[in-house]
Order: sequence, then structure tokens, then C-alpha cells
Amino acid sequence: MKFKKKILCIGAGYVGGPSMAIIAYKCPDCKVTVVDINPERIDAWNSNELPVYEPGLDKIIKKTRGKNLFFARDIEKQIKENDIIFVSVNTPTKTFGTGAGMAADLQYWEKTARQILENSQSSKIVIEKSTLPVKTALAMEKILNLAKGKIRFDVLSNPEFLAEGTAIEDLGNPDRVLIGSHETRSGLKARQELVDIYSRWVPSEKIITSNIWSAELSKLVANAFLAQRVSSINSISALCEKTDADISEVAKAVGMDSRVGSKFLQAGIGFGGSCFKKDILNLVYLCSYYGLKEVADYWESVVKINEYQQDRFMANILGSMFNTLVGKKICILGFAFKANTGDTRESPAIYITRKLLAEHAEIIISDPKALKNAAFDLAGVKGSVKYVEDPYSAAAGCHALAILTDWDLYRKLDFRKIYKSMVKPAFLFDGRNIIDHKKCFALGFNVYPIGKPALSHFKTENNS
Ligand code: NAD
Ligand code: UGA
Repeated sequence: MKFKKKILCIGAGYVGGPSMAIIAYKCPDCKVTVVDINPERIDAWNSNELPVYEPGLDKIIKKTRGKNLFFARDIEKQIKENDIIFVSVNTPTKTFGTGAGMAADLQYWEKTARQILENSQSSKIVIEKSTLPVKTALAMEKILNLAKGKIRFDVLSNPEFLAEGTAIEDLGNPDRVLIGSHETRSGLKARQELVDIYSRWVPSEKIITSNIWSAELSKLVANAFLAQRVSSINSISALCEKTDADISEVAKAVGMDSRVGSKFLQAGIGFGGSCFKKDILNLVYLCSYYGLKEVADYWESVVKINEYQQDRFMANILGSMFNTLVGKKICILGFAFKANTGDTRESPAIYITRKLLAEHAEIIISDPKALKNAAFDLAGVKGSVKYVEDPYSAAAGCHALAILTDWDLYRKLDFRKIYKSMVKPAFLFDGRNIIDHKKCFALGFNVYPIGKPALSHFKTENNS
């Protein structure tokens, strides 16, 4: 079959895989190829066990793979053969040198730019899909402009806003698609090419265009605003615990103001995931770089509150369990950074588990999708850790349960059965406020939610 457009994506990760699968699905007359430097990842995309768990993804892959969606190892050949190249490589926080712990590590990004330059025999549109510091396109253009002869590269910024666990829904029905370009003739032409692709399934009023720097910066700012809401509600959860106010009631009352809105006001153990912390720190670094200390400090506080919230949760477990966890069995319900994903990158569960192990607690981890990643995250950590998928078997014989991920299945557990199988007094720390606290208290549990009064059977603590 002759395809109308040939699209390549470099980077077959959480963004590259699902976003290209949707383009292939929505544009059957386009050939979409995804490449990666990690051959095992490519093999996994070509197998029945996809490297990324996302509800609905396997169905889309089955419909497109081998027809107009291909996962390939030969990066150089693919660069030669494709005209539109998305770059979706990882951009983690730098761990060395200037800006270590804050700035984005752009080594993978730059390597890709050089690879595109070295292997291109015709002009191409290169699209930044990775999240990058504002002005990165300038660096990319400097590299690509080294091209000889008539080959030209137009660089666009098309940041991705999908959230894990809802990626397929978000990609199929996005709030907006943002495309930034230079406002030159060829920049605008390249922009239109990309608008035409998205127009196949996204209503035109949701496709917004801007200058390239606004597009780059908007992505960092969108994540910073979302994370800021989580830190705002979590900071107030600490005050609720001191005053007997209830964070769910406060969030409802505040969120019903249409100017505020009700989303992203769920208090918990803090945000995880590969991007919020990295992108805010990147924003903080950029502000400091441009001499905006007050602005940098403001955004850095969002990350500090997130760390504080995890420390508070840990201190609550230790304090409530009589200040010693030595030899006590604690069942962690949920290790993924949020529900409906197996991803554990920057999951609060990693930090909390390490802290519990440092107190010499024995840990049993349960999660429907993230046990493999959990074992990888905790490899080499000293202490007793077991991985048990079935939550009932995991909880049996434990002194405490700690709910760390908002998996729906935890809402539906038979807590009567679990309580019976546990050591008494049994403790329940609901780090996501997802279960019926009063019901569990009535069953005999000592219940510790976030931002609400504890429900304890001990005489010296306040009960409500
Ligand atoms: P990821 O680590 O899952 O995937 C990145 C892939 O790029 C890896 O498989 C890696 O092997 C590959 N890679 C690195 N250098 C390469 C090179 N030179 N050539 C070919 N392949 C290379 O990362 P991700 O979660 O998909 O994130 C990618 C980018 O998208 C990041 O900038 C991230 O901030 C952004 N983003 C992520 C999400 C998300 O939900 N994960 C959402 C929006 C934006
Ligand atoms: C987030 C953004 O929502 C996406 O728009 C963005 O594209 C993506 O980052 C990215 O750039 O990587 P993601 O991290 O996948 O998506 O998931 P979110 O739903 O944003 O949740 C992030 C964290 O915040 C999770 O740990 C979640 O449990 C926590 N959270 C979220 C809360 O604690 N409370 C809330 O009310 C909402």
C-alpha cells in the first residue's frame, strides 16, 4: 500500500508508544514507525506483552501493528526514510555537573538531533514531543542547521499532555493539542502539516498554535500548575489534622467554586510519576538561570510540600504504632505512582517503603500491575521485602495496611476478612483516602486517613 505520509517517532516509551499508536489508528493512510535505542523495548512492543500498561492500549496496538504501525530497531534507516520525525526520548533531571538535581539532562535529546542530521538525505519536520526547557528548539536548530546542501529542517514544539492510566482516552479526546513553530513561511507550513494530522480526529478549536517558545514553556507550566494544586490541598490536609476539619469536605467546598474547579484536589501521600518533580525543578532552574529568585523559590515550595507530605505520612505510621516498627509486618497496598498504570517512577511508595525498612519493619508489597517495577526499584535495599499480588494473602499476618495507590480494587476489598487475618491491634493507614473509614473502624481497625481525624480504639487518642 502507498501511504500518504511517513511518520517516525524516536523513543518508544510511555509517550512514544501510545501517542504513535493513536496517530496510526486515526490515520490509516499514514505509515507510522517507532524506533528506540533499547532493542528489548522494541521487541516488547512487537510481542503480546507490551512494555507499557495502559487501559485500551493493547486493543489499538492489535488493530494497527503490522498494518500501518511498526516498531523497528534500525534507527538510521528509518530517519532516512521518513519525512516527519517526532522526538520522544527521555529528558530526566541532570545528576551531574552544573544544574545537577534541577536542570534537564539533554544528552539523549542532543544525541537524537545529531543522529537526525547525520542520517538525513532529504528535508524533514522535526517535532519536539519530549518535555524540554524553553529555548531547546534553538539548540536543536543549531545542530540541524549544520546540514549541507538543500536539506532543511523545520523544528516544531508539540508537547504531550497525556496522563498515565488514561493515556488512550487523553490522546483520543485531548483537552487541547498545542503546536508551536517559528512564525516564518516555512515554519508556518510545517505547523500546518502537523495541524492536518491532528485534524483527522481533534476538533479544530482544540488545536491551538503558538510561537515555539510559548509551546515549550506551556508544557512545563501546565505540569507545575497541576502539581501545585496537589501540594496546595496536601498542605491544607496537615492543617485539617490539627483542627478536626475534614480535607474532603474542604476540597468539595473549595472545588465547587467554578473559578477553582474540582479536579486535582484529592489529598494523599503526594504526587509521583516521572514528570511533575522533574518538570518543576526544571522550571525552578530556568527561573534561577534568568535571575528570578523569588519565582524560583515559589515553585520550589511545591516540591518541598510534596516531600513534607510523605514525611508526615511516615511519621504518622511510626507515631501511631508506638514509635517502633522493628519486626512488624506492614502490607503496602499499591506501589504504582497512581492507579491504572504499572509505572513506579518517583512513586511515593518507593520513599515510604525505604523509610519503613530503615525502621526494620518487614514489608509485603501488593499491586496488580507494578510488582515487577517495585522489585526493580527496591533491588539492593537492605531489609525484608516480599511481593504478593493477591491483597488478601499479602495482608494476612500483618500488623498494618498502608494504602499507597488509589487502585479501584482497594475500595472493594472485604476488609472484614482482612481484619480477621491480621495481628491485633490492626492499623490501617489510608494514604489516598479511598476507603470507607468509619466502616473499617467499626470492624476493629485503627484508621488513619489523610487530613481527617484518626479513628482509633485506643483510649488516649481522640475519636470522632
Ligand atoms: P521513557 O523513558 O518511557 O521513554 C523514552 C525512550 O526513549 C526510552 O525507551 C529510551 O530508550 C529512548 N531513547 C533515549 N535516547 C534515545 C535515542 N538517542 N534514540 C532512540 N531512542 C532513545 O520516557 P517517557 O515517559 O515516554 O517520556 C518521554 C518524554 O515525554 C519526556 O520528556 C517526558 O517528560 C515527556 N512526557 C511524558 C509523559 C508521561 O506520562 N510519561 C507525559 C507527557 C510528556
Ligand atoms: C501528569 C499530567 O497530568 C499530564 O498532563 C502530563 O502530560 C504528565 O504529567 C507528564 O508530563 O508526564 P501523570 O503524572 O501521568 O500526568 O498523572 P497525574 O494524573 O497527573 O498524577 C500525578 C500524581 O499526582 C500521581 O501520583 C497522583 O496520584 C497525584 N495526584 C493527582 C494527587 O495526589 N491528587 C490529585 O488530586 C491528583
